[in-house]
Amino acid sequence: MSGSQLWDDVDDYFSTHLAPDDEALLAALRDSEAAGLPRISVTPTQGKLLQLLAQIHGARTILEIGTLAGYSTIWLARALPADGRLISLEYSPKHAEVATRNIARAGLDKLVDVRVGPALDTLPQLADENPPPFDLVFIDADKANNAHYVEWALRLTSAGSLIIVDNVVRGGRVADAAGDDPDVRGTRAAIELIGSHPRLSGTAIQTVGSKGYDGFALARVV
Ligand code: SAH
Ligand code: DHB
Ligand code: MG
Repeated sequence: MSGSQLWDDVDDYFSTHLAPDDEALLAALRDSEAAGLPRISVTPTQGKLLQLLAQIHGARTILEIGTLAGYSTIWLARALPADGRLISLEYSPKHAEVATRNIARAGLDKLVDVRVGPALDTLPQLADENPPPFDLVFIDADKANNAHYVEWALRLTSAGSLIIVDNVVRGGRVADAAGDDPDVRGTRAAIELIGSHPRLSGTAIQTVGSKGYDGFALARVV
């Protein structure tokens, strides 16, 4: 389902009053566009939700899987204390380069570390470093691997940590058990893992807005 003018108008109204883009966020989107990156960042209201969740949680360490141009990274990193840390994993060297510039311009380069490579390679490398548990994990990369990313998130977090998975609705196809789209299958596997894992308590919420019909899952590590 594509979006509607009404959803755009309401999102614009909410963003204007609740989640206005500042210079660094606008520049990040501008440079993303100029470099030809896809326009699939979280929206301002979604970025603000991520930031609020991180703040409510008192997150000091954040792991992001899927950086793109660093737009969601900037929203999340701004929730961190001065000695906080955000590691963002990105497959594409080009995306990582654009993101690194955007993050530096936002003054967040001391807090943020962008690591390049397929996340299923960089996650085990990260685990080998025995990092302190991440307080929040934002999963927003290749959807086919969503369940693998939830499993890695479980290994890299501890009781009370928050795991958020973006784009779980897949145009409604997430409800289709027969579909063979790898993104749908990966997302269904993630939802069913969250629902069945003894160390996870989660939910999923459908949304509409300037990105159309979408949704996210949220889980707490028990
Ligand atoms: N979180 C970003 C959007 C991420 S878009 C935001 O809201 O601003 C998804 C990103 O995941 C893309 O940049 C894509 O290159 C990256 N990606 C795709 N497959 C990946 C993989 N296997 N490992 C890590 N990143 C991957
Ligand atoms: C896509 C990826 C995203 O992370 C997103 O928020 C929207 C779309 C995509 O790959 O099409
Ligand atoms: Mg996304």
